[in-house]
Amino acid sequence: MALGLFGCTQKTNNNAVAVETLYHGCQLCHSKQELQRGPVLDGQNGKYLTRQLQKFKNGQRGKVAAHRSEALMGTATDVLADKDIKRISRYIAAQPPKPYQPSVKGDAVKGEATYTTTCMSCHGKHAEGSWLFRTGSLAIFEDWYLLAQLRHYKHGRRGAHPDDAEGQLMIARVADMDDKAFIDVVSYIASAFASLTNAPPGHASVQD
Ligand code: HEC
Ligand code: HEC
Repeated sequence: MALGLFGCTQKTNNNAVAVETLYHGCQLCHSKQELQRGPVLDGQNGKYLTRQLQKFKNGQRGKVAAHRSEALMGTATDVLADKDIKRISRYIAAQPPKPYQPSVKGDAVKGEATYTTTCMSCHGKHAEGSWLFRTGSLAIFEDWYLLAQLRHYKHGRRGAHPDDAEGQLMIARVADMDDKAFIDVVSYIASAFASLTNAPPGHASVQD
């Protein structure tokens, strides 16, 4: 129902739609109010958002039937006009990141070793991402979402499209990792770099 409404608004008023209104539609599925949803996007790198939205739009993501959450997002981009992709990405990138309550509990010490040796080169010292390597910030997206994505790459539900070279890099990277290693590395990323709601004093719980 909600999705139908969303599509309708965009199709009829596309030229007139303010970016705030567009984003309001995204938040049907990208805010903490929803149970079955995508990640909170606020503060994510704008170029990375654009790139991912284009992947949904051109069918590199969102077309694997077994991956229901991606398929849901695929339907959302069906109604997003090409010309709106950049402006909504810019708008989202300018929003302050939302602190979250971590839910993935692993061995962050082991995770740190993995992160430093096998992830940092492409994802950055503070998990901030690097456009040179086409990565976004891992500190912005919630821990449960990062874990889900690692599992999706591992099981070929994300990144397997023949034209998705970046996704294939991640598939290759996680091929020799097991679920325990995913949980550990995500615990480390969340505890070291994310803005957390239960952060101890002194931790950067609010970013600019
Ligand atoms: C009907 C629900 C729904 C709507 C509406 C929706 N999304 Fe999504 N979106 C999702 C879900 C679910 C995912 C997570 C897909 C997954 O699990 O891989 C997602 C994933 C994404 C991602 C990928 C994040 C990443 O890097 O993995 C981006 C970017 C995104 N959405 C942006 C948007 C924008 C911008 C809008 C509004 C124009 C929007 N979404 C509207 C459900 C939705
Ligand atoms: C060779 C470079 C490279 C290395 C090394 C690498 N990544 Fe990635 N990673 C990428 C790229 C590129 C993407 C974006 C892929 C896409 O578009 O789907 C990505 C995406 C991701 C995502 C999905 C983020 C999102 O937006 O949903 C997660 C989570 C992730 N990487 C975690 C890791 C972890 C953990 C490690 C170490 C075990 C790692 N990566 C190592 C390049 C790399």
